Amino acid sequence: MAHLNLRAFAIAGAVLVSASTIVVAAPKGDEEGTAKRIAPVARVELAPASTGAAAGNRSGEQIYKSICAACHDSGAANAPKLGDKTAWAPRIKLGLDGLVKSAIAGKNAMPPKGGSDANDVELARTIVYLANKSGASFKEPAAK
Ligand code: HEC
Repeated sequence: MAHLNLRAFAIAGAVLVSASTIVVAAPKGDEEGTAKRIAPVARVELAPASTGAAAGNRSGEQIYKSICAACHDSGAANAPKLGDKTAWAPRIKLGLDGLVKSAIAGKNAMPPKGGSDANDVELARTIVYLANKSGASFKEPAAK
């Protein structure tokens, strides 16, 4: 058991370095199971590095799909789903600024900034993308 935990730790370390390491580091047996179990968490922490566009000027859609969708597409951890107008209506009433503040701080199971490395403008764009598909009509903020 101690041996297994050690290996899990080693894989987690590798995963933090590169998403593709999951495949390389866990080719078989137990290690694959371990990698699968830790993968959702690793993805949330890793996604900022894998959006493919320069940090600081990514679109809301890019950030949403690479990071936020992990919870907001599936409703994982009771996240309000994209497109669920009933779930979003009371939140949209906070206004874009209110939602940005809330997302920066994090809320219950939602980590600060949704676990992303988005700057404030990117985060606001991402919330516009998510909220506007869920009943809002926020305006996308201008680039910094
Ligand atoms: C680990 C899962 C998870 C990820 C990843 C995640 N969220 Fe969330 N999010 C949640 C949950 C759960 C809630 C509901 C929190 C509550 O009201 O208790 C939430 C709520 C929100 C809210 C509403 C906040 C409010 O005050 O009602 C916004 C806006 C939001 N998320 C934006 C984002 C954005 C943008 C991203 C990506 C950058 C993101 N989330 C990524 C889980 C997640």
